[in-house]
Amino acid sequence: MKALVVSADGSLLADAEVEQQIAVPRPGWAEQRPDMWRRNAIAAARHSIAEAQRAHRRIDIAAVGLTGQMHSSVFLDRDGEVIRPAILWNDTRTTPQRRFITDTLGMDGLRNGIANLPLEGFTAPKLLWLRDNEPENYARLRMLLSKDYIRFWLTGDYVTEPSDAAGTALFDVRRRHWSQQTLDALGLDASILPPVAGSTEITGAVSRAAADALGIPPGIPVVGGGADNAAGAISCGVVSDKVMQVSIGTSGTLLLPTARPVVAPDMSLHTFCHCAPDLWYLMGTILSAGSALRWLRDTLGGGVSYETLTADAATAQPGSDGLLFLPYLSGERTPHNDANARGVFFGLHAAHNRSHLARAVMEGVCFALRDSLQLTREQGVSPERARIIGGGARSSLWRQICADVFDLPIAITQPNAGPAYGAALLAVVGCGIFADVRQAVEACVKPGEAVHPNPANAAVYNEFYHAYKRLYPSMKDHFANLVELTKRRRM
Ligand code: XUL
Repeated sequence: MKALVVSADGSLLADAEVEQQIAVPRPGWAEQRPDMWRRNAIAAARHSIAEAQRAHRRIDIAAVGLTGQMHSSVFLDRDGEVIRPAILWNDTRTTPQRRFITDTLGMDGLRNGIANLPLEGFTAPKLLWLRDNEPENYARLRMLLSKDYIRFWLTGDYVTEPSDAAGTALFDVRRRHWSQQTLDALGLDASILPPVAGSTEITGAVSRAAADALGIPPGIPVVGGGADNAAGAISCGVVSDKVMQVSIGTSGTLLLPTARPVVAPDMSLHTFCHCAPDLWYLMGTILSAGSALRWLRDTLGGGVSYETLTADAATAQPGSDGLLFLPYLSGERTPHNDANARGVFFGLHAAHNRSHLARAVMEGVCFALRDSLQLTREQGVSPERARIIGGGARSSLWRQICADVFDLPIAITQPNAGPAYGAALLAVVGCGIFADVRQAVEACVKPGEAVHPNPANAAVYNEFYHAYKRLYPSMKDHFANLVELTKRRRM
């Protein structure tokens, strides 16, 4: 959980962060408690406000912007009480519900209605899972997305905005309203869903109770805000189809804005709404990116820091001396959409050591993201350069591997503060300081020097990428078999 204080000209005045864990009550499940988010939001906000006050003596907060993990569904009752832990974007329990939606709507219905596949992590399958498995909870339900739950606590308003609504698989992303035909076909009542405001629109004001908890005056306006990937793209100035965003956080995404909704015929990429009303984006999502390196550090890393691990990785050659890593530790979204996919080290030999494992993980994440780049190119959109955000962007080695694997220049921007900074810029626009998101980005986001691809390494990676690509198809059935075997043993 992150909170920033940003001045009206976009300077970063203070920030604070609280680490949060994801609960995995069963394999494939991923949950967090919204009251933990609320507590941590209060702690992070109080901390960053105090820090800004210490440094600048007096600050007047003009507006609040919000962002949060996409698709993660908060289930409330009609009185606004949370009725169960939120089911997160990387939870894969909903394969039966995903199949039901696909069978009910058919590919044409999906393409015309929501312009996306209803993947396990998205919201609609979760609502149906609740209907199928916890009917007593479903019967009294109102649903919110993660950042909108924080808004609900801040202002009492039950509202979302298009960039997050787009990830529910219930939203008509072309026309930017709930897809009534999809709701009707699935037998879902629209009253479960919040109204949709604009991302830079003021949706309400901080209540007295929330203001007291935060130590700020009541009445401060709160703007719509954006989904973490959309706000992340704003934070690094990604608002045209020339520049793509690469995010290496817990998940990994590759995002490219488009001036109209581009829908791949097989909907292999997500087509979502950006935070400006005339912008959309194509996105590929991998479920384990930074989290794959965290897994390596925590399980095989021998207690070393990321710095040591990545310094180690830098000593191995590109291609990790013949070691490939498939980062499918939580199943995979783009391009396989396969909850059964699993992580793999392929090609281990006795001379490999921790440095090879670490480098192979970093390379595997980039190969997985290159799959999405390939898919965007197939849609006729080809970025000229990239900007990188997320914890992975802090590693100069990971930035270089990205540049080499994508064969594109890649830059960090200043301030390099991720989606929370994008949310702050949406609040700055909401206050009327800039006319729109593009103007805010132009004035506030400063691109740093780009890392350029090393032609020799790019050639090596091109070959290893093709070797990587051949692995999943040959393992797909084995993954499914293994998951089935494991399930049977648990029963
Ligand atoms: C995007 C996705 C993730 C989450 C992470 O579709 O599922 O990137 O938004 O917070």
